Amino acid sequence: MIIDLLRKRRSIRKYTDQSLKGEDVKILEEALLRSPSSRNLKPWRFILVDDRKLLIQLAKSKREGAGFLRDAALGIVILGEEAKSDTWIEDCSIAAIFAQLTAQSRGWGSCWIQIRNRMHDDALTAESYIRELLLIPSSLRVEAIISLGYPAEEKPGIASKDLPHDRIGYNRFSSSGKD
Ligand SMILES: Cc1cc2nc3c(=O)[nH]c(=O)nc-3n(C[C@H](O)[C@H](O)[C@H](O)COP(=O)(O)O)c2cc1C
Repeated sequence: MIIDLLRKRRSIRKYTDQSLKGEDVKILEEALLRSPSSRNLKPWRFILVDDRKLLIQLAKSKREGAGFLRDAALGIVILGEEAKSDTWIEDCSIAAIFAQLTAQSRGWGSCWIQIRNRMHDDALTAESYIRELLLIPSSLRVEAIISLGYPAEEKPGIASKDLPHDRIGYNRFSSSGKD
């Protein structure tokens, strides 16, 4: 049941040094390619990175929030063709979350690493840094990287009582949401 997966889902940022098997990576490929897209345009492209040297360089894509990629078994770089579809961000995000949930269903941990709208340093965007590193054409945007691997940390799912239930209203907007 998908709700059971969702109840246990957490971002995992620590990984063992065990690599993913070829057949496991094929399952991830399938999950990515089965994701829906607006008008079925499939504006995404994916780069699966398992080369340790590249993972270490990708972990430096931005100053914070990407360092753990150096220890991941795999990084999935999510690319979108902006000129092909005005919903490239939505389409890429769905593919990314399909990969994350598939990973979880197989016992792997994963975490989203935001790249779009993030800086590598004061002068260079994280997108440009990655584009140069992985030889990505300028027509493709870099939305995110999904880091994956066997988990080396345990995190409990969020208890139902701790969910922000006040974010949901029925029939009319409810302003009871607290921030
Ligand atoms: C769009 C998006 C961008 C995120 N970017 C990062 C990131 O760059 N680095 C990181 O460590 N976590 C990132 N996360 C993970 C969130 O920090 C995490 O989902 C949130 O804190 C809730 O924790 P949980 O996933 O364990 O429930 C991102 C998540 C989303 C959905």
